[in-house]
Amino acid sequence: VQNGWQEQHTIQAMEHLEEAAQLLRDGSIVAFPTETVYGLGADARNTSAVEAVFEAKGRPSDNPLIVHIANREQLVEFVSEINEISEALMNAFWPGPLTIILPLKPGVLSARVTAGLDTVGVRMPDHPVALQLLALADCPVAAPSANRSGRPSPTLAEHVQVDLDGRIAGIVDGGATGVGVESTVVQADADGTVTILRPGGITAEQLRTVASEVRVDPGLAADHNESLVAPRSPGMKYTHYAPKGALCIVDGDASKVTDYISSRLHEAKGRGEVTAVLAFSEHIGQYQADGLFSLGSMDRLAEGAHLLYAALRSCDEMGASYILAEACPSTGLGAAIMNRLLKAAGHQIIHVT
Ligand code: TXA
Ligand code: MG
Repeated sequence: VQNGWQEQHTIQAMEHLEEAAQLLRDGSIVAFPTETVYGLGADARNTSAVEAVFEAKGRPSDNPLIVHIANREQLVEFVSEINEISEALMNAFWPGPLTIILPLKPGVLSARVTAGLDTVGVRMPDHPVALQLLALADCPVAAPSANRSGRPSPTLAEHVQVDLDGRIAGIVDGGATGVGVESTVVQADADGTVTILRPGGITAEQLRTVASEVRVDPGLAADHNESLVAPRSPGMKYTHYAPKGALCIVDGDASKVTDYISSRLHEAKGRGEVTAVLAFSEHIGQYQADGLFSLGSMDRLAEGAHLLYAALRSCDEMGASYILAEACPSTGLGAAIMNRLLKAAGHQIIHVT
């Protein structure tokens, strides 16, 4: 989402990039904007820098980090092979919100980045500040989202500051991020099959324009507290983005959903709960709650992706104890929105009929 504010932020950020790049080269950890969410960067070759990222986030060490690059020439340093389909994906979607899992060439990256796996997730972000910073740092930069583990990912520099102030060397402020949810993580097999390990900014529909077969990892749909399907992407097994209040998603026919949410909110209010709703602009006017957070129009799910994490953070800020969220179709960016909402809700979803 481009606007005057964003441009002003970008100029400010650009002036400080040399300093930020120097911090990265010196082994410090620095937050920076990407087109998806803010990342917390470290020189991916430097084990103590990478350990500092896990420490600052409070992140479990078996969850590997994505490596960010500014140009494809960097890949030969730490990737052993790129198959045809992975190459086609890079051509189509880089720079952009797509992380591709590639075979690791051992010896260059810290083993902490990949959590000991023999693969590495790589992406080239589509953000002028990120690309410039990565080019100046002149090293592969490991960067998870710049939130404390379990908090919604940051879409503003202020979110990073709230979560990580005092734990990191600096924040490059580039204003609001665009997409608002993280990159899509895929594995592309030599037979041409693309498996989505995490839905995100590049949709399944977009991937289908390049790959003959696109499938969703079976571990994705599952609630990992109950499922026996082992996740292929370690990050999928953790509850993420959970607001402090109880969050439940409501799915079903629109008029029934609005009736259901309205009456549940009324009951909750009667019990003395602090109530909040995450709803699409088509229905939000029908609700009475202490906090009303719009996900934009249901016809433009990019708005929902852009607004989701800030809405979840706002629920915490207002002290919401009872939160209901409208479901959306799992098409296009809706797949990423529903994936993040389900995680935030601990898979609590009600289907009204
Ligand atoms: O948009 C994004 O991807 C953001 C920005 C900062 O680039 N980064 C991000 O990183 O979301 P993080 O660490 O929060 O999420 C990384 C995800 C996790 O789900 C992790 O399990 C998965 O990528 N991942 C990383 N390396 C992997 C690998 N070798 N195999 C399978 N999954 C991997
Ligand atoms: Mg994250």
